[in-house]
Amino acid sequence: MNKISRKVPFIAPSILSADFGNIRNEIKRIHDAGARWFHFDVMDGAFVPPITFGAELVKSVRKDFEAYFDVHLMIHNPDQHIAAFKDAGADMISVHYETCQHLHYVVDQIHNHDMDAGVVINPATPVSVLSDVVALVDLILIMSVNPGWGGQRFIEQTYQKISELKQLLAFKQTQPLIQVDGGVSAANAARLTASGAQVLVAGSTIYKADDPVAAYHELSGKITRPITA
Ligand code: DX5
Ligand code: ZN
Repeated sequence: MNKISRKVPFIAPSILSADFGNIRNEIKRIHDAGARWFHFDVMDGAFVPPITFGAELVKSVRKDFEAYFDVHLMIHNPDQHIAAFKDAGADMISVHYETCQHLHYVVDQIHNHDMDAGVVINPATPVSVLSDVVALVDLILIMSVNPGWGGQRFIEQTYQKISELKQLLAFKQTQPLIQVDGGVSAANAARLTASGAQVLVAGSTIYKADDPVAAYHELSGKITRPITA
């Protein structure tokens, strides 16, 4: 298992908008550009309308890359799939608060399988529901679009939610990574990291660009420069 990175902030490319027929090369060119954290969006056609892929895809590319694999499960009953993603080589599984009747139990199961655990909230779900789980997890993911599709418009309320999450983490004296997913672009990356986002998932901004490598570098450049007021 790869170790979670604390060298923040950084860009986590999402392969959702990549060409699945050429997935190994799609990952390789951004890995060659320097990315060491990849985000895999698993959708079941039930919790969210689209169906993407499962553990077999993660497994098929695992051995080719020295990188942290973060699996974002947009599926019902995520606890039934933890062992399969562990077997596939996932380093982290993130589950939606909205899909877990027994969230504490699911987080425990992920840790028992020797993976990092993340919890995700939808745009309409308040940060406050995370109060009793923030101290147990490795990452909190704030969705900045409604889950299910790449290429959607960034929801501006996200900045406020990051700020609320930071307050909650300070109050609980715990420091899971803060990840944001959806609509991340060169236009908002700097403000997101200045607000406290540490892992910025980016799908279409990279993979739908004419030059994905240049787009990855442009995004990374936005968040590594010092932020001036
Ligand atoms: C959406 C997914 C995202 C998606 C983001 O449900 O969770 O990870 O890849 O895509 P962009 O960056 O295009 O908004
Ligand atoms: Zn995602």
